[in-house]
Formats: sequence, C-alpha cells, structure tokens
Amino acid sequence: MLTIEQKKSYQQNGYLVLEQCFTAEQMDQLKNAANKIVDDFDPNSTRAVFSTEDHSKTRDDYFLSSGDKVRCFFEEDAFDDEGVLKQDKSLSINKIGHALHQLVPEFKTFSHSEIIKNITLDLGLLRPQIHQSMYIFKQPKIGGVIRWHQDASYFFTTPLSVVTFWLAVEDATIQNGCLQVQSGGEVIPLKEQFLRYPDDSTELKVLHDMPWPDDDNAKPLEVKKGTLVVFNGQLPHFSAPNLSDKSRHAFTLHITCANTQYAKENWLQAEPSLL
Ligand code: FE2
Repeated sequence: MLTIEQKKSYQQNGYLVLEQCFTAEQMDQLKNAANKIVDDFDPNSTRAVFSTEDHSKTRDDYFLSSGDKVRCFFEEDAFDDEGVLKQDKSLSINKIGHALHQLVPEFKTFSHSEIIKNITLDLGLLRPQIHQSMYIFKQPKIGGVIRWHQDASYFFTTPLSVVTFWLAVEDATIQNGCLQVQSGGEVIPLKEQFLRYPDDSTELKVLHDMPWPDDDNAKPLEVKKGTLVVFNGQLPHFSAPNLSDKSRHAFTLHITCANTQYAKENWLQAEPSLL
C-alpha cells in the first residue's frame, strides 16, 4: 500500500500526505451523513449546556461522557445572552464526536475500511484500534484557532503509539484554516498530558517547558478534498481561524496500538474498536 519512500518520509517528518486518497463521492457521503446528524439534532436539548452563564461544569460533563456517543458540540459563541442561536444551526456546530466510527453506518464503514487498516499497519502500528472519531466543521468566519498541541496528550499510551488520521472532506487552504504542522525540526517530546481524575476533574499537565515551534516553522498543509494526512501523535500542529466564507470540513480518527498500555487517566475510556 504505502511505498518505501512514503514510509521513510513518515518516519523522518512525523507526517505523510496522501493526496486524494479517497474520491469526491466518498467525501460527499461522509458530509451528507454529518449534515443529517446536525439536521436531526435539536439544539434545545443542549441549550443549557452551551448558553448558561455557569456552564463550565455542564459542558465538561457533556464532553467527558461523550466517548461512546454521537454528540454535537456548538461553537463557543453560538448563543446570544438570551440563549438563542445567533445563526443557523447548521453554521453553529463546531464538531460531532466521539463514536461516529462505531454508531453511524457511513463513518463505521469508512473507518474500518481495508485502506485505513492497511495504512495503519504500514506505519508499524500492531493491532490497531480506533479510540475516537470526530467530524470537524471549521465554520466560515467563526471557526476558531486550535493552538499548537500534540494529540498524544489526549491518548497517552506506554509506549506512545497514537496516530492521527486527518481526512479533508472539503478542500483545506490557508484561508479556511488548514492544518499546519511542525516542519524541519526535531519533533519535541510530549509536552502536555490531559488527565481525568476519578472525580471527573481534569488537568492539562505540563511535562516540560520546551517551547512550541515558532509559527515560522509551521508548514501549512493545503490539501484537496479526499486527501488523507496521517501524523504521529507527538507531531506539534495547529490550525488558524477560518476567516474565509468557505467551511473546512474534516474527519479525524485516533488510532493506537492495542499492545501498548492505554492510560487510565486518559479522558476517553470508551471501548476501542479493533481494526
Ligand atoms: Fe490535533
């Protein structure tokens, strides 16, 4: 499946871009499935979670109990002070997570396809298992910045093994906030670990104080619809706000090796799906 050069490139750079790995039709199927979830979603069911003043606790609960569910998450400022959506529901959702790969047929089929499995194995992940899936909308004008981070902070295994599959459901450009990855430097050790304690409080623990890469050292990955980007969980990456009038839909999977030890402090403890 992957060539020797592609495997080498992944080892050297921590990421690999597989241009138009999937067809436009396949992407449209995923997009339609995501749009249907939003259509069927009643914003009143979560209005309190996202619009009340003292919302941090309810928001945390809504997030922390979503590992084995399909839930819609609103943009930070989706509601006005009266709890009314500022714009159409379809333009107010930040993402859907976190068990699309288990509960929604279109995403389940895609996530468990031979091609995903083969790439995972080619990258050296033994007994790959999917822990999480997300459909990210990065809405026009309001899709916000995602700061520098490493995905392994959220999927800590011993040894570290998580690989992110990031699929462009729509064209991703600098204007609409494409993925940007560390380029041309040694990948820094894991800098943070997101911990969930037994009482459901959480902490983003700083593991060392090496700085994040300069934005000048970021490589924007402008990719066409259907392109798959795979990257090592330790690769620092971020995305700028979407200031354009085009959305930037993406679908992501987080896959670890079942032979490693998955930390009991990870926020997500739902049963993973073996590929
Ligand atoms: Fe990430």
